[in-house]
Amino acid sequence: SLPKEVTIIEVGPRDGLQNEKNFVPTETKLMFINKLAGAGIKEMELTSFVSPKWVPQMQDASEIVASPPDIPTNIVLAPNRKGIDRALELGCRSVAVFVGVSNSFNKKNINKSTKESLEELKPIITELKKKDIFVRACISTAFYCPFEGKVAESDTLRLCEEFVAAGVDELSVADTIGMAAPSESFSLFSSLKERLPNVLLTAHFHDTRKMALANIFAALQAGIDRFDTSAGGLGGCPFAPGATGNVATEDVVYMLERMGISTGIDLTKLVEAIDTVSPALSRKIESGYYQLSKK
Ligand code: HMG
Ligand code: MG
Repeated sequence: SLPKEVTIIEVGPRDGLQNEKNFVPTETKLMFINKLAGAGIKEMELTSFVSPKWVPQMQDASEIVASPPDIPTNIVLAPNRKGIDRALELGCRSVAVFVGVSNSFNKKNINKSTKESLEELKPIITELKKKDIFVRACISTAFYCPFEGKVAESDTLRLCEEFVAAGVDELSVADTIGMAAPSESFSLFSSLKERLPNVLLTAHFHDTRKMALANIFAALQAGIDRFDTSAGGLGGCPFAPGATGNVATEDVVYMLERMGISTGIDLTKLVEAIDTVSPALSRKIESGYYQLSKK
C-alpha cells in the first residue's frame, strides 16, 4: 500500500541553481530559500562547498549558510575533507557527500575514482557521526551513466551497502540523467528497501525524458516515501552531459496531494517562491503546474 505522507527534500537552491549560467545574487538565493521554507519545505539542500572554479554558482556557500531558514533540516553538500571542514566550521549540522556508482562519472564530477572517493569518505563519515552530524550520501548514476551507459543494479546496491556500513543516516539514490524506466526504479528501490531497512531511503529523479513522475510512482509502490525535488524543475549536474532539471517540486506535490498523500506543502506559496528566483535565471520555468498557474 502507498504511504499516507511523503517527505519532500527541496534541492532547488543547490541542484537547481548549480548549473545556472547567470550568477544568481546571494540575496535572491536567500529570498528563494526563505520562501520555500515558508511554503512548508522541512528539509532542504541549501548549497554546496565545492571548488568555485568547478562550480562558480556555489561560490557564496558561506554566506548562504550564515542565514539558514528556520526548518528542521538544512543540508549542505561537500565532496571532500576541505568542504566538510568548512561546513563544520560554519556550524552546519547536516552534510551530504556525493559519489557516482560509475567511475567515469565520478572522475568527471570530483576527479577521483569511485573507490578513491569511498575510501576518502569512510573515516570522515565516522568522524561526522561522532560529532552527531546527520550524514546523507547522494549516490549518482545509480541507473545510467552518461559515459558508460547502463549501470548494473548489483553495482549500485554494493555501493549503497558500503555507505550504510560506513554509517550514513540517509541514501539519496539518483537517476542523474533521467534515463531510468519505472520498472528499473521499482526494482532498485524494492531491493534497497529489502536490503537496507535501517537507513532513510530517498529517490532523486531528473526529468530529462519526462519519466520522473512515473518513476516516483514506481518508487512509492516499492515503499519509498522520501523524494528530492526542485522548485520550478530547475537543475542538473554540470558534469553530466545532457542532464537537465530535477523533477519539479510543484508537479510532485500536485500529483501526491491528488492521490491523497500529504506533503505539507502549500502550492500557492511554492509558486511565489519560484517567482522570486525566476527573473534571475537564463531559462524559463517549464513545469506543468507552474505554467498553468500563470494562465
Ligand atoms: P580537484 O581539482 O581535483 O581538487 O577538484 P584539488 O584538491 O586538487 O583542489 C583544487 C582547488 O580546489 C584548490 O584550490 C583547492 O583548495 C580547491 P586552488 O589551490 O586551485 O585555489 N578545493 C575546494 N574549494 C572549495 N571547496 C572544496 C574544495 N576542494 C578543493 N570542497 C573537487 C576536486 C572535488 C574540489 C572538484 O572536482 C569539485 O569541486 N567538484 C564538485 C562537482 C560538483 O559540485 N558537482 C555537482 C554536485 S553533484 C550532483 O549534482 C549530483 C546529485 O544531484 C545527484 C545526481 O543527480 O546524480 C547530488
Ligand atoms: Mg541531481
